[in-house]
Amino acid sequence: MKIAVVPGSFDPITNGHLDIITRASLIFDKIKVVVLNNSSKNPLFTVAERMELIEQSTAHLGNVEVDTFSGLLVDYAKKEQAQAIIRGLRAVSDFEYEMQITSMNRKLNDQVETLFIMTKNEYSFLSSSIVKEVAKYQAQLSEFVPAPVEQALKEKYNTK
Ligand code: PNS
Repeated sequence: MKIAVVPGSFDPITNGHLDIITRASLIFDKIKVVVLNNSSKNPLFTVAERMELIEQSTAHLGNVEVDTFSGLLVDYAKKEQAQAIIRGLRAVSDFEYEMQITSMNRKLNDQVETLFIMTKNEYSFLSSSIVKEVAKYQAQLSEFVPAPVEQALKEKYNTK
């Protein structure tokens, strides 16, 4: 059984994340999408809300499970007996940050391999932060996020 972990803050999940999760789900037997704490971010959604939105957005994918963990990513991967950590790469600007966390994760546990999936070009500009920014101003979000996320953002920002 080949298991991969797709970690992130997912505050909230975007169509770019969903693209990566979907493509990873075609390669691995099981995908664990795990909501983790990124100490440099101040989230809009609670962990429970983020998990619920991921569950709703990935319900059509039969081999995807959603989880959370309050510790090191490599410890979660070991606990779940995952062979790989999957990260999406949008542009060159992602590379330095990803190289840093991948190198640290390899120092912490060299048994777990990190693999990168290139985001589709149409999502290369997309991030949770930029979606939150435009969501404040009643923008159309259906191109950028799954339907339940669009609804949740409207409720958060009271732009229904
Ligand atoms: O979506 P993000 O914010 O880019 O994801 C970053 C995340 C959550 C994967 C990273 O911050 C993380 O792995 N946090 C858990 C703590 C950890 O393992 N830190 C060591 C690697 S930086």
